[in-house]
Amino acid sequence: MELRSVSKHYAGVTAVDNVSLKLFAGEIMCLLGENGAGKSTLIKVLTGVEPPTAGQVVVGGQPVHFGSARDARRLGISTVYQEVGTLPLMSVGRNFVLGQEPKKGRWLARRLDLVEANRVAVHEMQELGIRRVVDGNQMVGTLSGGERQALAIARAVHFGARVLVLDEPTAALGVRESGLVLQLLMRVRQKNVAVLLITHNAYHAVAVGDRFVVMRRGQVIAEFSKGTETLPAVIRLMAGGDELSELAGLTGEGQWQVS
Ligand SMILES: Nc1ncnc2c1ncn2[C@@H]1O[C@H](COP(=O)(O)OP(=O)(O)O)[C@@H](O)[C@H]1O
Ligand SMILES: [Mg+2]
Repeated sequence: MELRSVSKHYAGVTAVDNVSLKLFAGEIMCLLGENGAGKSTLIKVLTGVEPPTAGQVVVGGQPVHFGSARDARRLGISTVYQEVGTLPLMSVGRNFVLGQEPKKGRWLARRLDLVEANRVAVHEMQELGIRRVVDGNQMVGTLSGGERQALAIARAVHFGARVLVLDEPTAALGVRESGLVLQLLMRVRQKNVAVLLITHNAYHAVAVGDRFVVMRRGQVIAEFSKGTETLPAVIRLMAGGDELSELAGLTGEGQWQVS
């Protein structure tokens, strides 16, 4: 999937300014940038939520015009948002198949096959490494934040996502839970999905990313591959200044100085 010279203007604001981007199957692309850099707007264009003001969205070499997020989903482009839209009083199994319920029986007997839904949900989550969820009847509200993300990711992959977009999936999570979600993304990559991870956390990005794009004020200001930039350099690029890295005691040589 590809964005070609995409811009998005809102009244008086240029949220995205002439950005080109390519996503490949089996790769984690990290989109980095401070708050307000234009990351969310860019993925709204990519996932059909908003049309671009200028430029093209290209899937498999063909320019496409998404009328809605549903159009994009039909082509296998799925999004997992920071606040996973799950309902706390719904079971894991029911939530997993929400909107795509497997049915059994005919006519009046036709109803949601919950046993099957539970089985698939638990199976898919286990496969992504979520071992603690063993019963599809468990309520979503009793899952941890990371497990909820896992549920949303497992669902997207199961229903055929070829491109998985995650907007700040670790923003509200602690260290351990973030690790869980990042590990999960590596498993999704193994399934040959193109992953676009949006984050303002450089540590999370360098832990899993294959390629990186840094945005500032709507523009791409840097692009690089795994292993070519140091963590402090990435942080400096994002911040557009040295304040954060100085505060953290980072030196230019990529060393941490804990004093
Ligand atoms: N619907 C909108 N109307 C007007 N301005 C917007 C809208 N959405 C985003 N913006 C502006 O576009 C810029 C980029 O926002 P956003 O894409 O949310 O950045 P990020 O996700 O990197 O924090 C910001 O200045 C924001 O205020
Ligand atoms: Mg955002």
